[in-house]
Amino acid sequence: MTILIDQPEIIGSQGDTNKLCPDQTNELVLDAGFVVPKDVSNNGRVISELVSNNEFIAPEINSFGQSFRDYDAESERQKSVEEFYRLNHINQTYDFVKKMREEYGKLNRVEMSIWECCELLNEVVDDSDPDLDEPQIEHLLQTAEAIRKDYPDEDWLHLTALIHDLGKVLLLPVFGGLPQWAVVGDTHPLGCAFDESIVHHKYFKENPDYNNPEFNTKSGIYTEGCGLENVMISWGHDDYMYLVAKENGTTLPQAGLFIIRYHSFYPLHKCGAYKHFMNKEDEENLKWLHIFNKYDLYSKSKVRVDIEKVKPYYLSLIEKYFPAKLKW
Ligand SMILES: [Fe+2]
Ligand SMILES: [Fe+2]
Repeated sequence: MTILIDQPEIIGSQGDTNKLCPDQTNELVLDAGFVVPKDVSNNGRVISELVSNNEFIAPEINSFGQSFRDYDAESERQKSVEEFYRLNHINQTYDFVKKMREEYGKLNRVEMSIWECCELLNEVVDDSDPDLDEPQIEHLLQTAEAIRKDYPDEDWLHLTALIHDLGKVLLLPVFGGLPQWAVVGDTHPLGCAFDESIVHHKYFKENPDYNNPEFNTKSGIYTEGCGLENVMISWGHDDYMYLVAKENGTTLPQAGLFIIRYHSFYPLHKCGAYKHFMNKEDEENLKWLHIFNKYDLYSKSKVRVDIEKVKPYYLSLIEKYFPAKLKW
């Protein structure tokens, strides 16, 4: 474990983060190259956390009483998280993702409303997440309500927050009961080199794509500026929910779809890796993803949400942006 601590990291006014890359020293740096934004001062005590432009003050600890995304904390979960990423990095290959997109793009498994899916998701626990030990619907509503407070006029963003993790239903038997490594965790591109900023990067050495000369250069099979939509990203709940929303004809703005699709793409939105694939539209959408992401990460704490109280508001948004029943 390497812990390098120097100065605080501040999130800028547009949710723009300073680059949180492993080669920088003003961060808490973990051995796997993952960086936790943190302000540590005298006595090694954490005294403050990220404060956004709009009064959202991030809590210091998660529901386990530990710092957020601290993969090296003396946590009982830490080992299972590492094992999770080992399996993820070995098994997520270009061919695997291609097959999954084809298979799940058929949307021939279930018909249900967005709210029904929110309730269904309560049966799911995310092994990859060191911070979250509550029913998923709590996390969804905590995220959505925190954003709603700070961005009251962006109703599409409230709904995006509510639905961003619904793709985790892939873990349930009726959706094929996919293993955790094929559903959750950070995502990354396939078809080009695995960037060093990807958490637990060392395990890629056992991935068949690692030594494929077609794939293991900086741009691999892609060209610079080709646009992220043309880049294959590891399969999971992000890409699945994006497919579901798009194919069911959502009227959410492009930024909402971008958030859903890339919210686990930490190498991009935290470390700035793979930016050479972005086009102009991606640049614009990334600003919203930065805003969204700090709420996604820091709302996983013991702030209870009265589900019945807020439900009518979210049902009205669902009606505005989605059909009554969706194909999944
Ligand atoms: Fe997620
Ligand atoms: Fe989330």
